[in-house]
Amino acid sequence: MATSTWLITGSSRGLGLELVRQLTRSPANLVIATCRNPAEATALQTLKSDAKGPLHIVPLDVSDSASIRSSVRTVESILGDQGLDYLYNNAAISPGLEAAFDFEYSALLETLKINIAAPALISQVYLPLVEKSNRKVIVNVSTSFGSIGLDVGPLCAAYSATKAGLNMLTYKQAKAKPGLTVITLDPGWVKTDMGGPNAALEPHQSVEGQLRVVTGLTPQDSGKYFNHAGEILPW
Ligand SMILES: NC(=O)c1ccc[n+]([C@@H]2O[C@H](COP(=O)([O-])OP(=O)(O)OC[C@H]3O[C@@H](n4cnc5c(N)ncnc54)[C@H](OP(=O)(O)O)[C@@H]3O)[C@@H](O)[C@H]2O)c1
Repeated sequence: MATSTWLITGSSRGLGLELVRQLTRSPANLVIATCRNPAEATALQTLKSDAKGPLHIVPLDVSDSASIRSSVRTVESILGDQGLDYLYNNAAISPGLEAAFDFEYSALLETLKINIAAPALISQVYLPLVEKSNRKVIVNVSTSFGSIGLDVGPLCAAYSATKAGLNMLTYKQAKAKPGLTVITLDPGWVKTDMGGPNAALEPHQSVEGQLRVVTGLTPQDSGKYFNHAGEILPW
């Protein structure tokens, strides 16, 4: 039986894929890598041959509530008697650099759906499995753009507003369930499709930091806003 069980959303590429790559290096981790289209997630599929521990690839389109709900049954059958130690809400979209008076209404609604409504529903329907586990950790992947205190300026208004909402959701989840450890986590500026080629960090650097933070969490950390280096960010 694996020591720790993990579910990652948005594992087809970027930071989700790198999380799966690093977690599957240890036979102690049972990893459930979710993505909206497993057949097309070729980079994720290739990790199966190198995985030292169990890797399950499960379809989950976070924009579709039916897909979210039906994934729970699949995950329950994979976990058997085990709970879910780490629920990692990583999947997100960014509609672009637009400022607060320039965004497309439809893009804002879609971003709200994927960046807040999806992690909220996923956390709700996976709660029994998280509560059944030893660690009981939920990680909501945020960004420094979700902070007002860091004063990051006018750009990426829609994306930033959704991530500020995700930060509030995290705070509320932590207050609602003191037995859980729920955090919001800024991965840094990373070279992925979202971060672009000029970003400061390679995916492996961000994920090494993220996993140090996440595996070191204690219940006293619940409700906090961390970055990948383990620093506390201002709301
Ligand atoms: N990269 C950065 O610099 C940076 C900075 C701050 C925060 N973040 C945060 O870090 C997380 C990962 O970002 P990233 O850089 O890895 O982004 P990315 O390279 O754009 O990858 C996004 C991932 O989310 C998935 N996704 C999008 N919509 C989905 C849906 N409806 N259902 C399921 N999966 C969906 C994508 O799947 P498909 O392949 O199917 O599209 C992809 O796997 C996000 O929460 C992001 O906001 C990133």
